[in-house]
Amino acid sequence: MTAAASQVLDRVLVLEMVRVTEAAAIAASTLVGRGDEKAADAAAVEAMREALNSLYMDGTVVIGEGERDEAPMLFIGEKVGSAIGKGPKIDIALDPLEGTTICATAGPNSLAVLAIAEEGGLLNAPDVYMDKIAVGPGYPEGIIDLDKTPTENIMAVAAAKGVPARDLIVCVLDRPRHEKLIAELRAVGCGIMLIGDGDVAGVIATSDPETTIDVYMGSGGAPEGVLACAALRCVGGQFKGRLLFRNDDERGRAAKWGITDLDKQYDLSELAKGDCIFAATGVTDGSLLAGVKRKKGKMTTESVVMRASSGTVRWVKGEHRTA
Ligand code: FBP
Repeated sequence: MTAAASQVLDRVLVLEMVRVTEAAAIAASTLVGRGDEKAADAAAVEAMREALNSLYMDGTVVIGEGERDEAPMLFIGEKVGSAIGKGPKIDIALDPLEGTTICATAGPNSLAVLAIAEEGGLLNAPDVYMDKIAVGPGYPEGIIDLDKTPTENIMAVAAAKGVPARDLIVCVLDRPRHEKLIAELRAVGCGIMLIGDGDVAGVIATSDPETTIDVYMGSGGAPEGVLACAALRCVGGQFKGRLLFRNDDERGRAAKWGITDLDKQYDLSELAKGDCIFAATGVTDGSLLAGVKRKKGKMTTESVVMRASSGTVRWVKGEHRTA
């Protein structure tokens, strides 16, 4: 990382990042349980963009709300920050409302999420699916591998943990496309925690023993995979991801972002490399964070901000006056 970018990450951006995710979470929280995913997402996007634009940096959105022609704000390539052209160059991956459906239905684990890195540090992942597998810290390097079957991966993790496979819990998105995976995991005998949405939280949960989740498996959004990797880089754990393309249009998107090896199995540090910072604020209550709560005259928020180079994890409880 250049000295200028490193210094700014140190002194300014670490805690400022929380302001950004707080702003998005607070905006989305006004629409929790209203059944309107688009409105909740739009509120979060607008608030996050405004907060980002107040930070002294020359920021570029590398993972955002979509391509320029489909997203009016925080599109891929959009420049953000108050020092465009003169401040430190920062790449940004963001999801102002991760779990739009969760927010609209007041379910668990909806988050406002942001990751930043030096220029080129975050994979410019196209908006396609990614096959993912993740475990928390403490396992031998290389224990998970997308070229192995789910059974082989589970047996390896169980052996390393020193428990039978039936003692493991695997988190999987509840989708028809995962029918075969779920059947195989049931045959191995491990427990499965099915989640309706929100695989950023699902992947991060593997790093927190409190959640009892040992492994994350299955396909979800590629951008969410990069965001989760930025967090795992800070707290430890392993992740493998492979982009999944359903048609030529999706393959074309990959080419546009410079991805030539379409079958590549990416490692954690290829998806989020160098120093990076990850921040999230809860919109609704979840395994990682409590959601926004409104009380008389104030609101409370819960956020986390972590940095890969130092491994520092800060939990931030915010009280915001509403009157
Ligand atoms: P959104 O916030 O865009 O609604 O994403 C929610 C999510 O569950 C992600 O966490 C996950 O990666 C993706 O959707 C899975 O996609 P799909 O719903 O198409 O299976």
